[in-house]
Amino acid sequence: MPMQYEALARAGAAAYREKEAPLLLAIESSCDETAAAVLCGARTVRAMTVFTQIPLHQKFGGVVPEIAARSHVEKVGAVTEAALKEAGVSINAIDAVAVTYGPGLVGALLVGLSYAKGLALAAGKPFVGVNHIAGHIAANYLTYPDLAPPFVCLVASGGHSHIVRVDGYCSFALLGRTRDDAAGEAFDKVARVLGLGYPGGPALEALAREGDPHAFSFHAGFNDKPTFDFSFSGLKTAVINLVHTAQQRGETLCAADVAASFQHAVVETLAEKSVRAAVESGTGTLALAGGVSANRALRSAMQRRAEEAGLRFCCPEFRFCTDNAAMIACAGHYALMAGQLSPLSLNAVPSLALAPEVSAR
Ligand code: KG4
Ligand code: ZN
Repeated sequence: MPMQYEALARAGAAAYREKEAPLLLAIESSCDETAAAVLCGARTVRAMTVFTQIPLHQKFGGVVPEIAARSHVEKVGAVTEAALKEAGVSINAIDAVAVTYGPGLVGALLVGLSYAKGLALAAGKPFVGVNHIAGHIAANYLTYPDLAPPFVCLVASGGHSHIVRVDGYCSFALLGRTRDDAAGEAFDKVARVLGLGYPGGPALEALAREGDPHAFSFHAGFNDKPTFDFSFSGLKTAVINLVHTAQQRGETLCAADVAASFQHAVVETLAEKSVRAAVESGTGTLALAGGVSANRALRSAMQRRAEEAGLRFCCPEFRFCTDNAAMIACAGHYALMAGQLSPLSLNAVPSLALAPEVSAR
């Protein structure tokens, strides 16, 4: 009964806020990972399970939305049960449910969202929809127990590249963003042209380690402009053209040099812009998040530049970099603490925005 459920959910959310160590179950299914986690309080991960669909999409060279949605349907129940089992609790001991409702692939999002709603309704628990990007940012809270807003965060994933000012746990302002391809998307596309398969980021990073980052002079767009926006499409096209031209002429290119030079251009742009944004924000702290935050070259370039600029630098533990549900749980916890509660009518929002863009510079 929806009416009964709403009253139960409101009471449950109020009880959640009062508890010293509330338990939150979170589910994430926005792209090609089916994930669940149990969080205790704000930052203690009691369990996390991730089923990755990467092998299913590999032969297509990228994520196939229909296959992703079907696989989420097959796995979401088992992944959730495994997380509860690992945490040693039943659904009845859970105080609230959090779930990603955007941005992401609509079919994929709907699977996790519907499952979470069903679970919340059946067990009479409150549930809250979480923005996936807010989740990536929250991965930093799981890694640094003392980290608190305000700070600036670069979120670089397969679908997004944002420089965000984190004003509060649930309050964000967008300082800059990519005008075209996301950083991870550029990694994936360049990796594909180098024959490295999907997902390209980790493979390209490994190849780049063998190459010379100064062998080719590549540049990301907007990096000479005073804005915090960037563009990776021209850079990606320059690399693809270089490779195709060499193929047509029958010349051999050193793929490791191409990978290293491309990665260098992306890393330098992201690091320069985000450090400058953090310095200008006056918050004193720069964080990194999103799948591309697993890139060691990016982590170390940002750390070096941030420290040179007198900033504290934070980046998530590797297991919290790519998509997972522990980060969704952490963002969900702060949403619940801020009084947020989602209705059963909550829909998936594939292009859900994080925050308004602050005035153009
Ligand atoms: O955050 P994420 O797991 O999913 C999205 O929300 O998109 O990010 C996945 C992206 C992919 O584009 C992948 O190639 C990239 O992150 N990625 C990396 C690395 N690990 C993952 N890119 C560069 N270097 C890495 N080590
Ligand atoms: Zn993500």
